[in-house]
Amino acid sequence: MTVQVLNGPNLGRLGTREPEVYGTTTYAQLVELLEDAGRELAMEVRVRQTDDEAEMLRWIHEATDAGDPVVLNPAAWSHTSIALHDALAALDAPLVEVHISNIHKREAFRHHSHVSAVADGVIAGLGIEGYVLALQWLSLRGAR
Ligand code: DQA
Repeated sequence: MTVQVLNGPNLGRLGTREPEVYGTTTYAQLVELLEDAGRELAMEVRVRQTDDEAEMLRWIHEATDAGDPVVLNPAAWSHTSIALHDALAALDAPLVEVHISNIHKREAFRHHSHVSAVADGVIAGLGIEGYVLALQWLSLRGAR
């Protein structure tokens, strides 16, 4: 089992993209942080980012076939993509939706996520630590 940490559009630009909203940690540093967290939790973690929705759908289909848990920051697709919702609805393994910012505190168009209805849990507004918390939850859940 590998935990798939999947990141949607523009998240590859973390660090320089709106640092007042998303912080100054770069995407490369986020990957390192999550790989370290995975090692500490003794779990295999694969972190990827894409700006291509078709590629994201392919990764979700692969996770579904493999039975892999998913930690997903769908970024802007949260608010727009029924295709993403439909792909995730077929995932049997746990799904945690993560947002770096608190989407409910921001513009009204960010308040609804098509992903939340098919997620086991949602973490929003806790910065990049939200991803680590998602991995910890998956680890605790596995230990039960
Ligand atoms: C985001 C919030 C989304 O509204 C936005 O489109 C993003 C990032 C977050 O991590 O806070 O790209 O998912």
